[in-house]
Amino acid sequence: MLTTTSIDFGYPWWLSNGHLIVLLPSLAALAAGRFRKWPLWAMATLGVVALWAGAAFFVVRSLDVNGPPKLLTQNFLRSGAGKVLDIGAGTGRSSIMVLAARPQATLVASDLFADSFKSHFGDQGSPQERLLQNLKAAGVDQRATIQTADMRKLPFEPASFDAIISAYALDHVGREGAKQALAEANRVLKPGCDFLLILVENDRWTKFLFGPLLSHGGTRGANWWRATATEAGFQTIEEGTAPASLYFLLRRP
Ligand SMILES: C[S@@+](CC[C@H](N)C(=O)[O-])C[C@H]1O[C@@H](n2cnc3c(N)ncnc32)[C@H](O)[C@@H]1O
Repeated sequence: MLTTTSIDFGYPWWLSNGHLIVLLPSLAALAAGRFRKWPLWAMATLGVVALWAGAAFFVVRSLDVNGPPKLLTQNFLRSGAGKVLDIGAGTGRSSIMVLAARPQATLVASDLFADSFKSHFGDQGSPQERLLQNLKAAGVDQRATIQTADMRKLPFEPASFDAIISAYALDHVGREGAKQALAEANRVLKPGCDFLLILVENDRWTKFLFGPLLSHGGTRGANWWRATATEAGFQTIEEGTAPASLYFLLRRP
């Protein structure tokens, strides 16, 4: 059983609670407006704003970005065992997701641990130490190692992993970077093995909730990712969506 009490993924406060900044003042204004008998148009506008912020807050809390996620597809690493690479592991959310769901697997948590890490998780403490703390808190550190690596030029031998996971990371390196990262993933994965690629989905819900704040990957949609993964030598075995997420289960033939 995964214990999550001392895990701190460190995603910024505004991702989980930012909508309160709009919700609470708009509720207060609605109360004041009712007391002072403000015009109907002003009350209606405030009501719409409060409704949006309330709905968005509720949906975002249910995403639980600072809690460990569930594996999006049970078809990933069905054998349950093997050596997995996490590309862009960050503070360990995706690594813990895999290690918790696949207790026989081991994992290399790789990340560049540079500016992008700081912009997501802040710069308090060593990134590697923070990742290790979370792996320990989740009780999976014995099956994990941490390695600094640029996803565009992975420091691993060809065909050295039984599976790859990457969550919300390939959408941070631009189009060329993502192409390089997919080619590198294909190179270091063993033939017949799977890559679970999870990306931020720029769908209507994400735009409704966050406006432009989560516009990762610009205009790239599912078609771009599928075509680029095919160019890199992958077959798409499965694809789907989850709240604010798009995923592909890719296989190296
Ligand atoms: C949004 S975080 C995702 C972290 C984690 N996978 C998760 O699910 O919470 C994106 C991560 O990608 C990493 N990253 C960005 N550019 C990278 C690169 N060129 N090579 C390796 N990692 C990179 C960042 O350091 C950051 O930790």
